[in-house]
Amino acid sequence: MKALVANRSIVTRATNLLLGKSIGQGVSVEEVPKPTVADREILVHVHATALNPIDFKFIDFISPSGSLTGCDFAGVVAGAGPGAAAMWQVGDRVAGFVQGGIDTAHGSFAEYVKAEADLVWRIPDGVDDTEAATYGVSAVTAMQALNLHLNVPWPDHVDGTSKTDDDATIFIYAGSSTVGIFAIQIAKMAGWKVITTASPHSFDLVKRYGADHVFDYRAPNAVADIVAAFPNISKALDCFSEGDSTRFCGKVLQNSGGKVITLLDTKTKVSGVEAQMVMSFQLLGKAFSWLPPVGPKYSVSLSDREALVRFYTSLFSLAKEIKAPPITVLDNGFDGVIEGLNRLRAGKVSGSKLVVTY
Ligand SMILES: NC(=O)c1ccc[n+]([C@@H]2O[C@H](COP(=O)([O-])OP(=O)(O)OC[C@H]3O[C@@H](n4cnc5c(N)ncnc54)[C@H](OP(=O)(O)O)[C@@H]3O)[C@@H](O)[C@H]2O)c1
Repeated sequence: MKALVANRSIVTRATNLLLGKSIGQGVSVEEVPKPTVADREILVHVHATALNPIDFKFIDFISPSGSLTGCDFAGVVAGAGPGAAAMWQVGDRVAGFVQGGIDTAHGSFAEYVKAEADLVWRIPDGVDDTEAATYGVSAVTAMQALNLHLNVPWPDHVDGTSKTDDDATIFIYAGSSTVGIFAIQIAKMAGWKVITTASPHSFDLVKRYGADHVFDYRAPNAVADIVAAFPNISKALDCFSEGDSTRFCGKVLQNSGGKVITLLDTKTKVSGVEAQMVMSFQLLGKAFSWLPPVGPKYSVSLSDREALVRFYTSLFSLAKEIKAPPITVLDNGFDGVIEGLNRLRAGKVSGSKLVVTY
C-alpha cells in the first residue's frame, strides 16, 4: 500500500528539537507492506483522515525514520482477525485513531490502517467520512480530560437538566481549538455551564457549539473580568497549554483552588491550584514512551482504555449531539496531508479541523 512515511534522521530531529522548528517536510510517500491484523484487530481501508498538531510534532521531533504517520481515520472494514470477526464485517463503516508516528505498524496517512476491534466506533448514517474522521485524537482527549479527570458526567449517562452551581461550571481556555469544541459540547451535554476564551473572530463559533460566556484571551483585563463574573470556578481545561495559558487558567481558579487539566507539559506552577497533563494515547491501553530511553514514559492504563471503549460505543447514537467541528477538506490525498501539516506548523488553523480524503 502507499503511505506517508517519516524520514527524518535522529540528527535532524534533535536539531529541530533544539531549534524549536523544523527543516523540510519530514515525510515521503512510499510503498510499504499492508498491516497484518492480529486476532482482535481489524484492517480499515482509509477514506478520510483528520489532521492534528501532534502529527507534525511527531514527524518533526520524535518519529524514527521509517515510521508510519497520522492518527485519525474513517473508512470501511477491509478485514478482521478471528477474534474480531463477530464484531465487524467487511464493508462496515468505522472510525477511530491510532498512535501514529512511532512504529512501522500504525499510521492513518495510509491506504490502510489497523486498529483494535473494540477501539473503533461504528459510523451512523447521516455522518459522512470527513465528519467521522474528526472524532479521533481531539474528541477523545476532551472526553479523557472532562469525564476521567474533571468529574464531568459521562455523555451516555446524563439526565439532561441544566446545572448552574459552581461545581457544575467549567472554564475552557481556547474553546475554538478542536479539543475545545468537543469539550464545550461534552460539558453542555452534562448540563454544565461553560466559560471559555477565544479570539473575537471565533466568538460566534464557540457559542454555536454551546459556550455560555466567551472572553477574548488577549484583552488586558480578561482574567479579572472572568473572576469578577464567575468568582468560584474550580475546574479548567487548558486547550492551548503554551506560553501563559496555564497561568491564566490558574488565576481564573484562584479563589477556590481546584484543578486545571493541560494538554502539553507546561511545567507551570500556580499556587493553590493542581495542574495535571493528560495524554490521549493512554486511552489505547498500551505503555509507550517518547524518545526512549530518555523521554517521558507512559504506563498501561486499563481505566483509560475502558473509557475509550465506553465513549466509542456510545458515539454511534451521540454523534448527533456531539457534533463534528467545522471542517476544511483538503484534496489531493497525501499532498493534501503535507499541505495541512504545513498549515498546522504555521499556526494558521483556527476553529476548524483539516480533513483529507483519499
Ligand atoms: N496531550 C494530548 O493527548 C493532546 C491531545 C490533543 C491535542 N493536544 C495538544 O493540544 C493543543 C490543541 O490541539 P487542537 O488539535 O485542539 O489544536 P487546534 O484545533 O489546531 O487549535 C487551534 C486553536 O488554538 C487557538 N490559539 C492559537 N494561538 C493561540 C494563542 N497564542 N493563545 C490562545 N489560543 C491560541 C486558536 O484560537 P483562536 O483562533 O480563537 O485564537 C485556534 O482556534 C495542541 O498543542 C496539541 O498538540 C494534546
